[in-house]
Amino acid sequence: MTHSSLPSDPQPGDLQRGKAYPGEGVTVYYEATRCVHVANCVRGLPAVFRPSERPWIQAWNAPAEQIAAAVRSCPTGALHYALTGGATEAPEVPTTVTAVTDGPLLLRGNLRLQTPEGEQREVRAALCRCGASTHKPFCDGTHAKIAWKSAGEASPSVRGDDHPEAGQRADGARESSEKAGEERV
Ligand code: SF4
Ligand code: FES
Repeated sequence: MTHSSLPSDPQPGDLQRGKAYPGEGVTVYYEATRCVHVANCVRGLPAVFRPSERPWIQAWNAPAEQIAAAVRSCPTGALHYALTGGATEAPEVPTTVTAVTDGPLLLRGNLRLQTPEGEQREVRAALCRCGASTHKPFCDGTHAKIAWKSAGEASPSVRGDDHPEAGQRADGARESSEKAGEERV
């Protein structure tokens, strides 16, 4: 394969999916159906990611660079950002794939994901490994509810079942309400 045959980086519009939360110098985008992991954003920047408040993402509460760093810590690709002027996240090089014990495959890099809705460009994604997700190819958290076990030793740092409450997401919503078509802030 020649270098020229490598895919181009995702364009800014490719990563601006879901609901937009504007702040100073940055807009955060949140795709609720991709959020299954109640952890990194809230722990990393609690002044901005506030699940018990509305709006739950308060992007005016921190500098743009801090918000961008917190967004990049989201393993599933539920969060993205665009800086004022249009700059978005550059894909990590090389691409990495990490198998979460008892959970999904985490991908980071220059991704072309084939979904039922067509090809999606991505820089981060959690892909179903248990086979039970209703949102394939993405993990939807079902692995924890069915207590799916992967082979191998459990490692607390990468376990996929550290949800405070099964089925709950960072924005405080329950999966059941999402299925009922309830709109979130
Ligand atoms: S948006 Fe969801 S998946 Fe992403 S870091 Fe926050 S809780 Fe985890
Ligand atoms: S690995 Fe999470 S739903 Fe399959």
